[in-house]
Amino acid sequence: MTQDELKAAVADKAINEIEPWLEQDTVLGIGTGSTANLFIDRLKPLRDRFRGAVASSEASAQRLKSLGIDVFELNSVGTLPFYIDGADEVNANLQMIKGGGAALTREKIVAACAERFICIADHSKYVSQLGNFPLPVEVIPMARSYVARQLVGLGAEPVYRQGVVTDNGNQIIDCYDFMIDDPLAMEAKLNAIVGVVTNGLFADRGADVLLLGNQEGVERIT
Ligand code: 5RP
Repeated sequence: MTQDELKAAVADKAINEIEPWLEQDTVLGIGTGSTANLFIDRLKPLRDRFRGAVASSEASAQRLKSLGIDVFELNSVGTLPFYIDGADEVNANLQMIKGGGAALTREKIVAACAERFICIADHSKYVSQLGNFPLPVEVIPMARSYVARQLVGLGAEPVYRQGVVTDNGNQIIDCYDFMIDDPLAMEAKLNAIVGVVTNGLFADRGADVLLLGNQEGVERIT
C-alpha cells in the first residue's frame, strides 16, 4: 500500500472507532493535515448523526463546512468526546511532534478539551525517539530572534519558516538537529521561553489511541 492508501485506511478505522458513540448533540474535535482531511471527507455520510465539529485550523473548518458539517467556536461548546488528528512523529508512549502544518497551537487547545485523542498515522510517523522531524515552535513575531537564541542554547538549530503566518497571526521556528530525550521536560522548558506561544511537542497531553497504518493492516495502540 502507498502512504496515501495507509492514511485512508487509518481514516476509515477512526470512523469505525467513533461511529458507535455519535449522538445528535455530539461535537467532534477535528485536526489538520492530509490524514485529518481524509477523516473529514469520511464524515460526510454521517453528518446527520452528530451536531458538528470544532476545527483546529481555518483550513479544516472550511473543509468541514464545504461538506455541510456545522463548525462551532470552541468557546461555545464544552468538553469534546473525541479529538481526531494526524501527527508528524509519534512514539510508543503516544507522545507526538505536531505542527508540520503550522496548526500546533489550536491543535493543542482543541486536544486539551477532548476526552479522547485519537491519533491517525501511517507507519512512517512511528519513531523510537522524537526529534528527527524538526520541532515547530509558534512565536509572537517580535520575539522571534530572542526565542531563536534561546533555542540555540537548548541545543537546537532554529530555522524561521519563511512566509508562514499561523491562524493566530504568529510565526513558526522549526528546530532541526534536536533529538528529544525527555519530551515532557522539553515541552515545559520550551513553553517557559518568553515569546513562545506553543511548541509542537504533545507529551503532557499525548494521544489516548494510536491507529497506525502499516502493510499488515491498521494496528490499534493504547
Ligand atoms: C498540522 C499537523 C498534522 O497533524 C501533521 O503535520 C501531520 O500531517 P499529515 O497528516 O499531512 O502527514 O500537526 O499542524
